[in-house]
Amino acid sequence: MNVSAFLESLSSQATATFPPQTSAVAQAVLQGLSANPKYLPSWLFYDAEGSRLFEAITRLPEYYLTHLEQSIFVRHAECMIAVAAGLKREHLSVLELGAGSASKTIILLRALIARQGRVTYIPVDVSEAALQWARRNVHSALPEVQVQPIRSEFTHERSLHLPEKDRKLALYIGSSIGNFDSAEAVELLRWLRAQLKHGDALLLGTDMVKPVPPMLAAYNDAAGITAAFNKNILVRINRELGANFAVEAFQHRAIWNPAESRIEMHLDSTRNQTVHVAALNRSFDFRAGESIHTENSRKFTLESVEEILEKSGFELERSWFDENFWFGVHLARAVETAAMPDEDAEEQAA
Ligand code: AVJ
Repeated sequence: MNVSAFLESLSSQATATFPPQTSAVAQAVLQGLSANPKYLPSWLFYDAEGSRLFEAITRLPEYYLTHLEQSIFVRHAECMIAVAAGLKREHLSVLELGAGSASKTIILLRALIARQGRVTYIPVDVSEAALQWARRNVHSALPEVQVQPIRSEFTHERSLHLPEKDRKLALYIGSSIGNFDSAEAVELLRWLRAQLKHGDALLLGTDMVKPVPPMLAAYNDAAGITAAFNKNILVRINRELGANFAVEAFQHRAIWNPAESRIEMHLDSTRNQTVHVAALNRSFDFRAGESIHTENSRKFTLESVEEILEKSGFELERSWFDENFWFGVHLARAVETAAMPDEDAEEQAA
């Protein structure tokens, strides 16, 4: 029986104490915990508490990613915008995937205001809370910015309706692209490319390959915030799907996987245990030491950045780094390729 047929059969059972669900969350949990090895998709981290914990992570001393990207924006925002606007000095609207608190984006928006007077900012996020937060932060820092939030499950559903026809600067920063493997990253960027026009720009932030100790420290912070962030996925499943995970019987583990060039986060079961998920009307067995793989955080080289961009209809124009090349921000142009026909040209021909 496939997943949706199974979930449908659940909906007809009136006996479950917790309402059976066919939600994306239920489906993802069923699929991931039925797999061998077990996994949970990392977009499940970002409920209200998960978003709050992630924001706390970005302030940790060990989490160099945000600090470095922020400093790259502070140093190079004007230059990034000048390159994005091009020789014709075009007026830009900003589209951001996964807006979060928008604190780094404000640096870019401020430079855009200085350059072009007004700017439209379109934050796209899976979380309504994050969108409200982005709107409030941007509004209090830069009241001149027109904010048009869009809620979209773009990380796993690819839905989006853009209100504007302006020249766009798309932002996908924070190395969020690192959550996807190469094929998924290309699929997401191709989808983004299809929302844009030939000549629009993309700023992509990527964490770069570096010595292993600082990478491990960033995902094993002394204060235990990353461990709490990782375990919050179980708290969420307990609440939303009526599961009974003993959260204290799972241990946070982050490792470097050199073959895949990524940090992986896992939750290891500390004992043999059975977890019941009421909304799925199912139990899942865990052996002592068995793990749930919860996240991949890929680390890039300039070559691997170029490769995913090129495969998705973008051309790398320029990159900015910190002095150690630990983090990179890349400006790419949406181009016409055989694989990515230009929709504008098609519209005109029709
Ligand atoms: C938001 C996906 C970039 O992979 O570093 C932080 C998420 N996970 N600590 C990352 C995360 C653990 C973060 N990204």
